[in-house]
Amino acid sequence: MSFTIAIDGPAAAGKGTVARAVAAHFGFAHLDTGLLYRAVGARVLAGAEAVVAARALRPGDLEADGLRTPQVAQAASRVATDPGVRAALVAFQRQFARRPGGAVLDGRDIGTVICPGAEAKLYVTASAETRAERRFLELRDKGEDVTRAAVLADVIARDERDMTRADAPLKPASDAVMIDTSDLSIDEAVRAAIAAVEARRGLT
Ligand code: DC
Repeated sequence: MSFTIAIDGPAAAGKGTVARAVAAHFGFAHLDTGLLYRAVGARVLAGAEAVVAARALRPGDLEADGLRTPQVAQAASRVATDPGVRAALVAFQRQFARRPGGAVLDGRDIGTVICPGAEAKLYVTASAETRAERRFLELRDKGEDVTRAAVLADVIARDERDMTRADAPLKPASDAVMIDTSDLSIDEAVRAAIAAVEARRGLT
């Protein structure tokens, strides 16, 4: 049986946390597709050509340290506007989505482009201020030298680029369940996501 859960949304909305918890709940495999773009972005910062780096990507590259920095996030968002980069990453994502045991993929274009036939689609969002505050606390806890204002500017710039690019822009699929986590605890957001998936599972 293959069952795909597509989770999309803007930077720092809580997609990753929700995706990991949903995958653990259902016993499904999880792929954070942002890591693919981050790995390519990191290679480009090191001097590689973007499409060449995307074609050469191997699953082991996603475990590299240093992919979670704001610099790599911005580089990821920039390489993600390149249709050649996106095209090079499609097959790996679709193959992952068809795993027999079920799969959760989180990103920006999973419900719209990568897995338009996903059995369950969620769009996880929150206000830019809420998302920036969460990311600020996360980075500060990791010991990064960041300010609230810089993190907010970063989040807004990334949203703008991710939502307005020509190829696979971030937007909710027409059949996605919307979850706004601005006023939700992590537990509440996870419960809402699991309930939305359960409702879809009842239909299949
Ligand atoms: O989810 P994230 O913050 O790790 O993603 C980093 C960047 O990668 C994001 O700003 C845009 C790009 N991305 C994308 O274009 N499509 C995806 N499915 C996932 C990420």
